[in-house]
Amino acid sequence: MQSPSDIVSDARTAFAAAASVAELEQAKARFLGKSGALTELLKALGKLSAEERPAAGVAINEAKGTVEALLKDRRDAILAADLAERLKSESVDVTLPGRRQSLGGLHPITRTQSRIEQLFGSMGFGVASGPEIENDFFNFTALRMFPDHPSRSMQDTFYIAGTDRVLRTHTSPVQIRYMRSHQPPIRIICPGRVYRCDHDATHSPMFHQVEGLWVEEGVSLADLKGTLTQFLQRFFERDDLAIRFRPSYFPFVEPGVEIDMEWERTEKGVKYLEIGGAGVVHPDVLRNGGIDPERYSGFAFGMGLDRLAMLRYGVNDLRLFFENDLAFLEQFR
Ligand code: PHE
Repeated sequence: MQSPSDIVSDARTAFAAAASVAELEQAKARFLGKSGALTELLKALGKLSAEERPAAGVAINEAKGTVEALLKDRRDAILAADLAERLKSESVDVTLPGRRQSLGGLHPITRTQSRIEQLFGSMGFGVASGPEIENDFFNFTALRMFPDHPSRSMQDTFYIAGTDRVLRTHTSPVQIRYMRSHQPPIRIICPGRVYRCDHDATHSPMFHQVEGLWVEEGVSLADLKGTLTQFLQRFFERDDLAIRFRPSYFPFVEPGVEIDMEWERTEKGVKYLEIGGAGVVHPDVLRNGGIDPERYSGFAFGMGLDRLAMLRYGVNDLRLFFENDLAFLEQFR
């Protein structure tokens, strides 16, 4: 069996060699644990004679006190070193520039939509919405785009296989739904997402439309021209903006027109750009909406909301709006 002084010098060496608190705990067990060297000495005390026992006991207890003190010193030293190490690695460089909270903003399409809602709102139009997954009846048939009729091919449609459902190709179905639940006077715009199988710089498979409907006694093509001219001149903030209504065909209106707006003015005259369609609502469409065409008449229009945004902001590629590139979007904040 080792002498108390040998145990103390062993402990001193073992503690000094421990590099972490965990290693130190293991070393401690060798001396002070249940079967540690000092514990064994204490157990052996009983075998000594009565004369030897007091001196031996004192020596063992002194050794135990010394080992405990050594242990505490080493533990404090390890903890202090750990702390110093952490302070060094976690230090803050106060000379770095601060991290600023970056400010979000509305998407240019959202901005354009609220501006349109505001302008039409000032002319007495409310906002109506409806499902983006439509059924064939509301998207086509109720608007006189009958199955097998070539007018359906005017819009490249995403059909949902095995159902009569389609991703709406325009927001006109919202108008049918609205007429079925409201009687005139009706004055609404229907902004929203629409889908067509089309993709290039000026067409995206998902884009936005704003359509509108005014049904009341005595509403005519003249009201259509006045309303849309007012809207476009205010939207583009130009009182002299030339607007042209060019005869065209849509199955759901009669007569139908294409809305053209001034694009360029040269000595030769004004160059126009098509921005939507419109017309006087076909009597059958009013009937499909539950409205008596003998008593009421109305006009409807549809414009590309993204196209209006492109023209207003001078953006030449529609796809930029949907790529979510912050460098592009932040310009509109
Ligand atoms: N719904 C037509 C389209 O998306 C636009 C339109 C609406 C045309 C109302 C005339 C009248 O092509």
